Amino acid sequence: MKNSKPLWSGRFKQPLSDAALKFSSSIDLDKELYQEDILGSIAHVEMLASCKIITHEEARRIRSGLKAVAKEIETGKLDLSWEKEDIHMAVEQRLIQKIGAVGGKLHTGRSRNDQVALDERLYLRSAVYEIKKMITQLQRVLLYKSEKYFGTIMPGYTHLQRAQPILLSHHLLAYVSMFQRDFERMEDCYKRINRLPLGAAALAGTSFPINRNDTAKKLGFDGIIENSIDAVSDRDYLLEFISACSSIMMHISRIAEELVVWSSQEFAFAKTDDAYTTGSSIMPQKKNPDMAELLRGKTGRIFGNLMNLLTIMKGLPLAYNRDLQEDKTPMLDSVHTTREALFILSHVLVHTTFAEQRFEQELKNDFLTATELADYLVQKHVPFRQAHEITGSIVSYCVEQKTSLTVLTLQELHLFSTKFEKDIFTLLDPAKSIEHKKSSGSTSPQEVKKQIVYWAKTLKNRK
Ligand code: ARG
Repeated sequence: MKNSKPLWSGRFKQPLSDAALKFSSSIDLDKELYQEDILGSIAHVEMLASCKIITHEEARRIRSGLKAVAKEIETGKLDLSWEKEDIHMAVEQRLIQKIGAVGGKLHTGRSRNDQVALDERLYLRSAVYEIKKMITQLQRVLLYKSEKYFGTIMPGYTHLQRAQPILLSHHLLAYVSMFQRDFERMEDCYKRINRLPLGAAALAGTSFPINRNDTAKKLGFDGIIENSIDAVSDRDYLLEFISACSSIMMHISRIAEELVVWSSQEFAFAKTDDAYTTGSSIMPQKKNPDMAELLRGKTGRIFGNLMNLLTIMKGLPLAYNRDLQEDKTPMLDSVHTTREALFILSHVLVHTTFAEQRFEQELKNDFLTATELADYLVQKHVPFRQAHEITGSIVSYCVEQKTSLTVLTLQELHLFSTKFEKDIFTLLDPAKSIEHKKSSGSTSPQEVKKQIVYWAKTLKNRK
């Protein structure tokens, strides 16, 4: 049973039924926002006092009451079960219980509608900060591996078919670049998160002479959301945030997929330490890449969260509607899951080694340098299409003869084109092939080294 009347009970003759309260309560989730809620309330009362809407003494009492409530929540002393409706109500109710009627002045000139938007924005500010730190950490791990394995050549793939030799470092650095854009997306959405909605009140603003810019300054916001209806109606800042999380998770999922495939006996390109793999309950020989699989699997949740919130928003008339309360599930889950995924992936990668001999083995027995053959002919003035055709026939010949490009003789090559000379053999060597690349951003060791130097500098200077 409810232990006290809700703060809005004045107009009602009957109490809210337990069933309705249970259905509509959000405290199970939004209690996670208690620090933000109290921080926002303290800034609000201080502003009320400096605008002479309440006295400084009243503000002082409310502030210390709020701090005491925060302590109670921190130590688990305050009951935050579903009877409390939401965290805003629970804090205010407890404040009034503790300091008496003066506590009721806290809610002057504001509404839960602008209060909840404020709490979310404060919460997301810390989330963006943490996620940016964790992206940097992951980029550093990838960079460290690129430096460690600099010089290791592996087969590069397209369509998951062997394509051309590449440096393993080049492959890993591709992810560093992808995560860089995720970092920038986070940084960019922060600009729109960091605006104060408080002071919009329910939707129309308030007749109290409040100073919204003052509250904004106290809370470190870059400014206010000017239009009060906009301030309480939209959740686009949260959509942007979840969309940035989706991109992070999509990239994480792609690395995870590669870890799964590369850990298979068929590939055997990567090995993750026992501490980050699991066994099977029935097949004793198994060592499963569960962390990578879960990372791939959890990605679906974040995409779902984005779709969830987009769907909540699409039909809402202005301004606040209770539907908006449902934004907590996708918001909190996106923050938790993305943080956790970045953290675990960094650890898994630290504890993963790459099998250099396996790469070598595979490079020897394959047609990865076929493009070099074609390019060679082009340099000898054979049109590229024709060169491509000739090289295709050479590969087909090798397949029939069960041999590989690297062991063909010059006589055999002359069966296809007399333009081939002895110097072709150096190009068929994967190491020579990558050294031969000239374009910027290519897999040539000089270009990859440039990227390593660039990222080492960029990531070192990042706080
Ligand atoms: N728990 C609510 C939410 O998260 C707080 C705002 C309630 N506002 C209202 N007018 N009922 O959206």
